[in-house]
Amino acid sequence: PVKVQKICCIGAGYVGGPTCAVIALNCPDIQVTIVDLNQARIDAWNSKDFKLPIYEPGLEDVVRKARGRNLFFSTDVDKAINEADLIFVSVNTPTKKSGVGAGFAADLNYVELATRRIASVATSSKIVVEKSTVPCRTAESMRTILEANSKPNCHFDILSNPEFLAEGTAINDLLKPDRVLIGSLQTPEGIDACTALADVYANWVPKERILAVGLWSSELSKLAANAMLAQRISSINALSAICEATGANIDEVANAIGFDSRIGPKFLKASVGFGGSCFQKDILNLVYLSESLHLPEVAAYWRQVVDMNEYQKRRFAKTVVDTLFKTITGKRIAVLGFAFKADTGDTRESAAITLIKDFVAEKALVQIYDPKVEHEQIWLDLAEAIPGTPIEAIKKQVTICASPVEAASKAEAVVIATEWKEFKEIKWEDIYATMDKPAFVFDGRLLLDAEKLRKIGFHVTTIGRGAA
Ligand code: NAI
Repeated sequence: PVKVQKICCIGAGYVGGPTCAVIALNCPDIQVTIVDLNQARIDAWNSKDFKLPIYEPGLEDVVRKARGRNLFFSTDVDKAINEADLIFVSVNTPTKKSGVGAGFAADLNYVELATRRIASVATSSKIVVEKSTVPCRTAESMRTILEANSKPNCHFDILSNPEFLAEGTAINDLLKPDRVLIGSLQTPEGIDACTALADVYANWVPKERILAVGLWSSELSKLAANAMLAQRISSINALSAICEATGANIDEVANAIGFDSRIGPKFLKASVGFGGSCFQKDILNLVYLSESLHLPEVAAYWRQVVDMNEYQKRRFAKTVVDTLFKTITGKRIAVLGFAFKADTGDTRESAAITLIKDFVAEKALVQIYDPKVEHEQIWLDLAEAIPGTPIEAIKKQVTICASPVEAASKAEAVVIATEWKEFKEIKWEDIYATMDKPAFVFDGRLLLDAEKLRKIGFHVTTIGRGAA
């Protein structure tokens, strides 16, 4: 197997950036260049004051240590491709918005464009690694494109190396991965390429956690992992609806079932619904795959995980309206949190967006606070979620605030949409003082101490708890 000396990563996003920064940190002998077409993103990665384009705890520290040493960020895609012996393709693969499979299938246009770029500029052999989450057998398409367009004496080996990091804990997940999965063709060349990549990871990952499998198993495992994780959330959320109707307490139920070692305690937190760029997209992708394979029952099974999530978001918005005497027209609602989960500035598919969209449709005045999300991002997301309404009209109903107290000012209700730890530490007395009475709190993240809030005077509604 070749000894990897230079790595290129195409795509400087939430995955490419942190993943390859951690590789650079742990492999000082390997030169790592992360490239992107987006100049602003690369400028941010290169910024002198480390104003990086994404927020992840610990990321700045990693970039400070490696940048300029053996970690580089550039828009010169061709140069980096040409120099590298191993190339990660870590571009976005969003759900298709139109054409065949619209709303389900992954849009592979970016993967294909990056692959064609590699084929057209490479003048030496490369290992090409699929890092993006892709449907099964995408590696085969990549290989066909590369082989049909390569120069003489250029040989390409394709590996699948899906990324299992979770946003918000990306750096820790990358430093101590549960496992690293590498899929390859089971040919001598394929196995050699797999060994070359495994040797990179072996600089910091214990050997027994580096799993070598076939290409298609590797591709499917990523979709399967996300489907199983999301399925736990939808299962606990489905139970939370039963809890609310019966007076059972979802935390007690989750705790009780989590003690069963076959079930385990993690990922059993009820909430207003999962978000993020991956779960929904990857499950819909699995649904599409199942349908393409003429497995309608399998498709319907996984589809229900997404349907349950939509139901949970709608159900929570309806609880808010119903509790506020069945109308929120003209009422101020504070929404605390806009990111799809704590410790990230990422808002893709955030449950907050759906809630705010519903509140705006009910003609409420929404006052948003989030500690990390850029204001511009919030306006972009709301404009996309509420099509046909000019942003000026949205801005008449929605304000972005600089603190929780400002967001709660004259509001009738506070809604917790993201589990930011700082919301626990707010002086809730101050919030109460500034609100209209009766003052309501809706905890969509099981974050707050409801008893404490009730002592202050709040009416508290928590997901998965019967009315108190
Ligand atoms: P992202 O949208 O943050 O980053 C992708 C980047 O690729 C963008 O900056 C874009 O400008 C760049 N790009 C696209 N085409 C290019 C080209 N031809 N040449 C150079 N740059 C190009 O996406 P993110 O979140 O990093 O996701 C990437 C992939 O990783 C997706 O397939 C996703 O499903 C997968 N994934 C994402 C995880 C997450 O937590 N965000 C976790 C695990 C996998």
